[in-house]
Amino acid sequence: MLQLDITGTLAKTITPSLGIPENDLATIKNTLKSYVEDFLKERSAGNHAWAMSPYDREVLGLVEDTAARLKRERIETIVWVGIGGSGLGPRVIKEVFETAETPELIIVDTVDPAVIAAELSIIDFQRTLLVIASKSGGTLEPTAAFFIMEERMKQALGERAKERILVITDPKEGALKRYADAEGYTTLPLHPDVGGRFSIFTPVGLLPLALLGADLTSFLRGAKEMDTVCQHPDLSENPAAQLAAIQFLLDTKRDYPIRIIMPYATRLQSLGRWEQQLLAESLGKTEAYGPTPLASIGTQDQHSMLQQWIQGRRLHWHLFICEEEKERVTIPKIPMEELSFLSEKGLGQVLDALYEGTAQSLTAAKRPHATITLPRLDAYHLGQIFFLFMVEVMLLGKLYRVDPYGQPGVEMGKKIAKEILSRRS
Ligand code: PA5
Repeated sequence: MLQLDITGTLAKTITPSLGIPENDLATIKNTLKSYVEDFLKERSAGNHAWAMSPYDREVLGLVEDTAARLKRERIETIVWVGIGGSGLGPRVIKEVFETAETPELIIVDTVDPAVIAAELSIIDFQRTLLVIASKSGGTLEPTAAFFIMEERMKQALGERAKERILVITDPKEGALKRYADAEGYTTLPLHPDVGGRFSIFTPVGLLPLALLGADLTSFLRGAKEMDTVCQHPDLSENPAAQLAAIQFLLDTKRDYPIRIIMPYATRLQSLGRWEQQLLAESLGKTEAYGPTPLASIGTQDQHSMLQQWIQGRRLHWHLFICEEEKERVTIPKIPMEELSFLSEKGLGQVLDALYEGTAQSLTAAKRPHATITLPRLDAYHLGQIFFLFMVEVMLLGKLYRVDPYGQPGVEMGKKIAKEILSRRS
């Protein structure tokens, strides 16, 4: 089970005026207990549909059957078209599970013509699977990119392209679903009540996992075990409630509006961006309050941002994500006295020392930080952390009194862009 350590946020660690006093935690404990109970009742009444996704055996069966069929086709490249949650979730999976032995997963979440042109020039469409993931089936970027890729697929494969194009979308509504049915493409359902940023346990996350040969059962088991833990009424036993508590108290009682999400694992860079979207789109709905998430990465940002975080304005708190068990890559013996301390050290030890350096210097500067530690970066622990963050954001919706679902603020820009494109030929 992953571990959450909040010691670095507490008043006893970083001073009473800057950290969270024990009595604030004690006060919020009962509020969160009742929110956890409310969540369970609302869930039984059919709300929070994402929380049931890991238990959907029918969807799992569809994904497994589809992946098994596609594996027989000896695909070398998967072109995955999707943006927001429909692109960021699969990107996390790519970063963790893609290897030289798996097909290459290319995430297309842009309409930058330079990028698309470069991709078109390298993809062998004869050996490609094209997937579009779009809940609404009408988002501009994936729609535009999909039709470009689809044309290439048809040119390369003719009639056989049908077998290599797959659509993940709302099973009932939307232009994309109608188009896919008319063209005879396989479709996989994205539950009508599960938005992109909550869709990692639907085919949006499950299909790339299956195609890259990762362990779906472990991924879902991780989510279900985290689900059980996050139903615990006691804050100290419930990591989602604990994380929500420190987030809320640091923001509202100690004036740290910015949450820096900082994995110390390059393969988790996109997890930081996924989490950034989850918090921003779910909670950024009132001018009065709410956290501003900022995705970062260790150790690189130690050399670009840390100066400000240690001595600049006191606006930030840090959530680190670390991986305990690491690949063993060893530095050779270094024939120089002043660098000999590095001789024969594992790179993992260097990474750990740098994380400790950052965490301890934040403590010395009386700046709050918490750490999630994954015993190892595998499907099981990835399932846990995704589920943990989604429960946390749901609880934060209750604490901040905002509806975490929907993203009305995003709509205006999309509407204007569509109007501009409809006017110009
Ligand atoms: O979280 C969300 O619902 C959004 O950010 C969507 O992921 C994003 O807008 C893409 O939408 P769609 O999946 O409908 O193409």
